[in-house]
Amino acid sequence: MLKLKPVSTLRRSMFTLAALVALLPAAFAQSPIVIKFSHVVAVDTPKGKAAEFFAKRAAELTKGRVKVEVYPNSQLYKDKEEMEALQLGSVQMLAPSLSKFAPLGVKEFEVFDLPFIFDDYPSLHKVTNGPIGQGLLRKLESRGIHGLAYWDNGFKVMSANKPLKAVENYKGLKMRIQSSKVLDAEMRALGALPQVLAFSETYQALQTGVVDGTENPPSNLYTQKMHEVQKHVSVTNHGYLGYAVVVNKKFWEGLPADIRLALTKAMAESTQVANDVAFQDNQEALTKVQASGKTVVYKPTIGERFLLKKALMPVHKQMASRIGEDVIQSIYKETGFDPSKM
Ligand code: LMR
Repeated sequence: MLKLKPVSTLRRSMFTLAALVALLPAAFAQSPIVIKFSHVVAVDTPKGKAAEFFAKRAAELTKGRVKVEVYPNSQLYKDKEEMEALQLGSVQMLAPSLSKFAPLGVKEFEVFDLPFIFDDYPSLHKVTNGPIGQGLLRKLESRGIHGLAYWDNGFKVMSANKPLKAVENYKGLKMRIQSSKVLDAEMRALGALPQVLAFSETYQALQTGVVDGTENPPSNLYTQKMHEVQKHVSVTNHGYLGYAVVVNKKFWEGLPADIRLALTKAMAESTQVANDVAFQDNQEALTKVQASGKTVVYKPTIGERFLLKKALMPVHKQMASRIGEDVIQSIYKETGFDPSKM
């Protein structure tokens, strides 16, 4: 005979079921928000290490509600594609070099490529940490990109298979550059032939002789093993290479406010790490390049550097209409840079 459950048991089961249903959204809400962070350099670079640090701090500060997946070494996308992927929302976070924002139409970012515009890190940081830097990041909003921070890499060296002491040494050399009209003008001012190549293609291009030389901070040169295919490095410190850490704007604005706050804190800490590591790693990289015995590391004399600067300063005027005279002047004013003083 069918045994009916007492009403109280039935009520209890229904109550349990209702409670379970009520818990379902909470269970879903617990699956973490994933941030794909793509970049083109090696893991053991300033950017690579800072990205890993950010992933760790983001998880800690959000108590696991955010999971940052870092994809280094152009594993996911190369330079140009990663910018498109960010705009499409296929990745949520990048840290492209500042030179790589001009192709989006925000040409003002090429101001950072102007040769010799920053004498040192303190003058550079006046710009990146101040109103000029913030104003430049705001210009990305109309492209669907929100800027979070500036991260340093460092000052660039030149490399080739021949000594680069005098300006004449650059004549006729095919030099790999990032896609920046300022860097193009810089190489032309030295009589070199600039060639835009993705970062991921640079080592092979140097190895096979598609290009003769390049410029980059020592940490990038060393971690990509470029020194193994470049016999000479000249520590010219003629220009700066740094990054803007950016997120897809729609994604960022869609995050809960407390998550955004925690990520902002994680980013501030990561910026400090990035800059400290950059300073340290670039010095160490030069020592390692020299110690490899494959490359001669040359420090130009004051006189040689003066002549290099003299050859490159006309690029500032030449590029003023592209970058904006006002942007260039505002940086001169902020840093106290005097273009007439050699
Ligand atoms: C380059 O293309 O040389 C650099 O922008 C690579 C990087 O991200 O540091």
